[in-house]
Amino acid sequence: CGIVGYIGNRDAQPILINGLKKLEYRGYDSAGIAVYENGVIDLKKTVGRLSNLEEQIEKSPLHGHLGIGHTRWATHGRPSDHNSHPHMDEKHQFAIVHNGIIENFQEIKEELINKGVTFISETDTEVIAHLLADLYDGDLVTTVQKAVAKMEGAYALGIINKYEPDKMVAVRLSSPLIVGLGENENFIASDIPALIEHTRDIYILNDGEMAVITKDKVELMTTKGEVIERTPFRVEWDIETAEKDGFDHYMLKEIYEQPRAYRETLQNRIDHENNKVDLSKEISLTPEEIRSLDKIHIVACGTAYHAGLVGKYVIENLVRVPVEVDVASEYRYRNPIITDKTLVMVISQSGETADTLAALREAQKRDAKVLAITNVNGSSVARDADEVLLTHAGPEIAVASTKAYTSQLIAIYLLGLYLAQIRGTQEDTVIANYLQAIKELPAQADKLLEFAPTMKQFAERYAHYEDLFFIGRSLDYAVSLEGSLKLKEISYVHSEAYPAGELKHGTLALITDGVPVIALATQEDIYDKMVSNIKEVKARDAYVLGIGLEGDQELAKSVDEVIAIPKTLPLLTPALSVIPLQLLAYYAALARGNDVDKPRNLAKSVTVE
Ligand code: G6P
Repeated sequence: CGIVGYIGNRDAQPILINGLKKLEYRGYDSAGIAVYENGVIDLKKTVGRLSNLEEQIEKSPLHGHLGIGHTRWATHGRPSDHNSHPHMDEKHQFAIVHNGIIENFQEIKEELINKGVTFISETDTEVIAHLLADLYDGDLVTTVQKAVAKMEGAYALGIINKYEPDKMVAVRLSSPLIVGLGENENFIASDIPALIEHTRDIYILNDGEMAVITKDKVELMTTKGEVIERTPFRVEWDIETAEKDGFDHYMLKEIYEQPRAYRETLQNRIDHENNKVDLSKEISLTPEEIRSLDKIHIVACGTAYHAGLVGKYVIENLVRVPVEVDVASEYRYRNPIITDKTLVMVISQSGETADTLAALREAQKRDAKVLAITNVNGSSVARDADEVLLTHAGPEIAVASTKAYTSQLIAIYLLGLYLAQIRGTQEDTVIANYLQAIKELPAQADKLLEFAPTMKQFAERYAHYEDLFFIGRSLDYAVSLEGSLKLKEISYVHSEAYPAGELKHGTLALITDGVPVIALATQEDIYDKMVSNIKEVKARDAYVLGIGLEGDQELAKSVDEVIAIPKTLPLLTPALSVIPLQLLAYYAALARGNDVDKPRNLAKSVTVE
């Protein structure tokens, strides 16, 4: 997840290690460096923390003035020494570091295996090293161009070779990469914090661009070889701001990363030609097993549990299999009825939550197949589950979960459609419609971020209230629960989420003059009933912020303020309607002067039961 590279007159090793330390905040599970000296590229890499790598290096340091380093956050292949970067070809001529995913790596890998190449890792990255060795024509630059032409996917690459130790090459497509400009030395990195102690003058590479870097020169060109002229960018931020990409908090950064996270979760899982979801490479349940399922249990904690509640609506609607949702700490102790036809789905961002892990083990003890939806490859949940669907949201640092939740929703949509395809519960045209709408979600989420100033205003106006209500029906109720949890977690404002139709059976007693109510009304089938419920709270003089669909002219007449989310299919609205609620919680916490990223009493990952 982090790349650094150095060429110059100084010793590369300490510069690489320090650079990687500055990128630690991005999350990683293994680290490594490669340094060139006297015709040889030497490699040190290990699973675990950077301190493990430092221990190794202390015993046998690497010397040399050219090197690349990497911290890895596992995507293809679990965290292990072998899977760590840098990767090299068999003859140790090339060393490379890579962020991103090479989508067609399997194809390239097979070609190379047919030519007799032996692979030692499970990663998509290793193919690049072998591919470069296979294509090498005595010129690193043209060889890289030829290799890149064969690669599909997303990548930021740092490349060195032992025949041309006067240079290093950097390439970018869809994964961030920058070049730092020094005096008789130059750098590459995936992010500014890694370089800021050496230089503030940088080139930001755009998609399809590469840089050829010697110690006193940097040439920019497209991957097709067209020369690019660009003035360097001067970084004015301090280190802390740089780590957060210029955002004030990780939470805000992660809220804004959602459109990208959606795209990553979708990547490689849609067969665009046939309008189908294809999870067959990741999930080994056979069509017979999928057809024989008669019940699904979803088990999770906190925000992941709320994603599970959405999952119930999605799966029951698309697949027509009964779904029960439990919080993990309850599930284990309720003597759940599990048969060999039950699929237990656990959802966990970290994959380390003790309650979830215990529930997973309980389910396995009772012979259920367990499918995990998790963000962390190689986590305990990912290792122990029978099937794993990764969310690919990237590391989440703020305690309050945002992009992990929405990418769990995307994974659930894909899974629901996949199960529906196999069980034949939805027409092909319906599946195609869903896929079309799902593909639009990233751009729609992007549009929703424009509501930040509105949510800020609302939050500032109501931040001093001690009670607030979220109401909604069906999927809107599931989202209300998540909106309410977000607010409680970081702003410490008490709030309750209520199924709007149930309000009149008790909670309505709490609605008095000026009490803020957030009302979600995005579900067409229950819309009129929801509007009646809004009128019930308006009649008690509540102040209502309505969240409805674009084009809805009616809602504005019943509420005090409206946020309109882009139109999508009813089951997909949670991936959009939650975004204003996340912003509301963020700005309310800010207005109350709280530590947004590290709320009191809470931990990102709770590893005790
Ligand atoms: C903790 C966090 C929550 C999170 C829950 C489940 O309580 O504070 O934000 O939703 O754990 O975490 P998981 O990693 O299993 O999704």
